[in-house]
Amino acid sequence: MDEAARIADASAVPDDGTLLVTLQSTDEDEQREAILTRLADGSVAAWLNYCQHWTDVRLDTGDGAPMRGGEIACRRHAATFDRTSGECTFGPCEGAFLNDVDVTVADDAVYLTDESFTFESMGPAEAHTGDSSTSPGERLGF
Ligand code: FES
Repeated sequence: MDEAARIADASAVPDDGTLLVTLQSTDEDEQREAILTRLADGSVAAWLNYCQHWTDVRLDTGDGAPMRGGEIACRRHAATFDRTSGECTFGPCEGAFLNDVDVTVADDAVYLTDESFTFESMGPAEAHTGDSSTSPGERLGF
């Protein structure tokens, strides 16, 4: 595998939460955040880090997205997303899908295989560096 595409050790990806990383879009000069979560079969799913209800709301603000019933939950209005398919299973955007990012696990590491992005860094994008772990207007406690 291309070492430049190496994101993290597979063991660093939680199976009860998400790992936040920053990608660089190859089409546009912008950073995009993605969240990685480890599935029961050991594979890793990756999604762009925003809710399908309000797309300016990040699911993971740096401390892992909250989980509810094994699904990724949005802090703002409690939508939940299936970690395998990305489908919103409950909430105001029910039936919508998170935007997937292609990754693969090889040699105990996670690699980015999505041609739309290059791996930039672990953690939040520069635009969110210094954000607190909670968002203004957050309504739900987890
Ligand atoms: S912003 Fe995520 S459920 Fe409303």
